[in-house]
Amino acid sequence: MTDQAKLIVGKKEYVLPLITGTQNERAIDISQLREQSGLITLDNSLGNTGVCQSSITFIDGDQGILQYRGYPIEELAEKSTFTEIAYLLIHGNLPTRKELSIFSNRLNESSLIHEDMRHFFEAFPKYAHPMGILSTMVASLSTFYPLPDVLDPDAEEQFMANLISQVRTIAAFSYKKSMGEPVVYPSFRLKYVENFLNMMFSSPVKDYHQDPDIVRAVDLFLILHADHEQNCSTSTVRLVGSSLANIYAVISAGISALWGSRHGGANQEVIHMLERILASGGDGKEFIERAKKKNSGERLMGFGHRVYKNFDPRAKILKQACHKLLSKPGMNNPMFDIALRIEELALKDDYFLSRQLYPNVDFYSGLIQKAVGIPYDMFTVLFAIGRMPGWLAHWREMVHQEPFRIIRPRQVYIGKTERHYVPINERPEQNAVPV
Ligand code: SDX
Repeated sequence: MTDQAKLIVGKKEYVLPLITGTQNERAIDISQLREQSGLITLDNSLGNTGVCQSSITFIDGDQGILQYRGYPIEELAEKSTFTEIAYLLIHGNLPTRKELSIFSNRLNESSLIHEDMRHFFEAFPKYAHPMGILSTMVASLSTFYPLPDVLDPDAEEQFMANLISQVRTIAAFSYKKSMGEPVVYPSFRLKYVENFLNMMFSSPVKDYHQDPDIVRAVDLFLILHADHEQNCSTSTVRLVGSSLANIYAVISAGISALWGSRHGGANQEVIHMLERILASGGDGKEFIERAKKKNSGERLMGFGHRVYKNFDPRAKILKQACHKLLSKPGMNNPMFDIALRIEELALKDDYFLSRQLYPNVDFYSGLIQKAVGIPYDMFTVLFAIGRMPGWLAHWREMVHQEPFRIIRPRQVYIGKTERHYVPINERPEQNAVPV
């Protein structure tokens, strides 16, 4: 297999290296293209462009394969825990018992936010969206944990623990604020997910009973959301991190990107969609027809993916988890039946099949969160809690990879060619824009 590509432009021929990844993905390395030819490439939304070489996560969108550091997501979902996965993504290998204990203790020791930050919650309006609170509070961590040199290797382990641990505390505190209840502090006695659920749902007048099935469902949810290679929010973290911005500001940017309804915000939109269909008394058929119409303004939320042109393996696992959790007494949710019906109808419909639109991670995830008691506007917050180790792993890989340069794409200019200033009293009226 030749390791070169030839580009012929007019009478000139340029030879470009071909690189092959460990999973046999091949790419034309164009890093010298502009220097050699004066040409750049154009790829709106970067669907055909690799921005880095990474060892963290592998996705095969055609086969529906997802692996974290080489481990299939199906095995990790069944056998691992979110804390162990966070260690795996950041450090590259599964931890020994000692490494996991040290990592877990560091997370627990880092779970408190500065007491002065608690007053910030009073300043948010009652209707503040928790994602707006989360991105603000994470950015403000940079004021409580100043980091003169974001590349200081001795600081890395601690700020990563701060972020993985405190994102839970901030999320739970924002929920308590919205409920008008006193905050519940993290407890050293509890593991990662139990700690989060306790901060969310226990109160001075009512202890929270940790249901092992619910703990397992939340841990599974976080595992499945932990990383997904160069998705929009992770690419945002890489781009902002490449300027050497403070790590808390970098992660805050990733949270903001995740908030969008095309990305992590979709899980909340899926539940709203299922609720509307349930309220209409229909089975989703009408909604699906509307979602197929360009000008309807509707999309089948939780369907479609830039990379997966087959079933998102995470959707399959979450679907099974829904079956298990919602079959518990008192947990049944008719929206799950609607979701199953929509999946059945859409996957028989040529509109979706011809566009290779399958359920993605967001299609079933909201049903799990609703069963746990997470309010809808916190669904994407849980996605952010899950994605935190992935963001940090990609930031860490980028800053330690040579060459580590600021990410600065090019463009093709299509605006006005050079023209000269005209004093306002000489400008022809027909250009005047009506006031
Ligand atoms: C996540 O990148 C990641 O890895 C993300 C993620 C992660 O873990 O980080 O996996 C998490 O963000 C999952 C995606 C969650 N978003 C949604 O469920 C929102 C609904 N889906 C879409 O908006 C859309 O499918 C995207 C944004 C996910 C992907 O968009 P693309 O790749 O830019 O595809 P497109 O918008 O160009 O659509 C191609 C065609 C269009 O029709 P035509 O112009 O060819 O006629 O498919 C249609 C679209 O109209 N289409 C849909 C659709 N998604 C695409 N039509 C109806 N319903 C949909 N959901």
